[in-house]
Amino acid sequence: MVKFFPSLMCADISNIRDEIRALEDADVDGFHLDLMDGKFVPNFALGLEDIKAIRRLTDKPLDLHLMIDEPEQYIDLFCDINIDMISVHFESCVHIDRVIKKIKNKEKKAGIAINPGTSIDSIKYLLSEVDFILIMSVNPGFAGQSFIDYVFDKVKDLKKIIDKKNHNVEIYADGALSLEKIRMLKSEKVNGFVLGTSVLFNKSKDYSEIINNLRAL
Ligand code: DX5
Ligand code: ZN
Repeated sequence: MVKFFPSLMCADISNIRDEIRALEDADVDGFHLDLMDGKFVPNFALGLEDIKAIRRLTDKPLDLHLMIDEPEQYIDLFCDINIDMISVHFESCVHIDRVIKKIKNKEKKAGIAINPGTSIDSIKYLLSEVDFILIMSVNPGFAGQSFIDYVFDKVKDLKKIIDKKNHNVEIYADGALSLEKIRMLKSEKVNGFVLGTSVLFNKSKDYSEIINNLRAL
């Protein structure tokens, strides 16, 4: 079954308790948490204390997307918050294999996030080591951008390698995902979607209706 993870940086932070409750009622699969450092990406989003607070508000899986330089320095810190999944950017790690091992040693699901411009070839040997790949369909750092269409080709290439080698790894997509893009990516066998401003956090607050429509695609 395809999974839907709302990106909480796009939710109404001033009302996060009600937002989480409404999204749980809509039966989302977990929450995507964007953490930025103003260096790897030129922006800030959620911080450590926000993530701790969110953990207290929900038992759903938490998926931490680290958009920071040198993430290996902070893996212990984040794993201690009892999150469920962590993705680090391929582009931010000199020793990515070591970082992945560190996450796995903490018994968390480990993922590699890759920027739109990074080739799938860069990560093909790591597919046996991780639980998921987070394919970025925008340049990370900001919500509300436009979907980058060549990412479809990357998803196809990634799926080919996964199938050929029979890797047990899921594909998640993140960035500017509209209903239409989700429909197209679903037919490429993408397993999970991060929901931001395009489909979930727009005018309608009827999260149940939106999630139901997505499940029916
Ligand atoms: C972008 C973040 C995304 C973002 C999604 O850097 O990683 O998770 O919040 O928001 P939309 O769907 O609006 O691009
Ligand atoms: Zn993200």
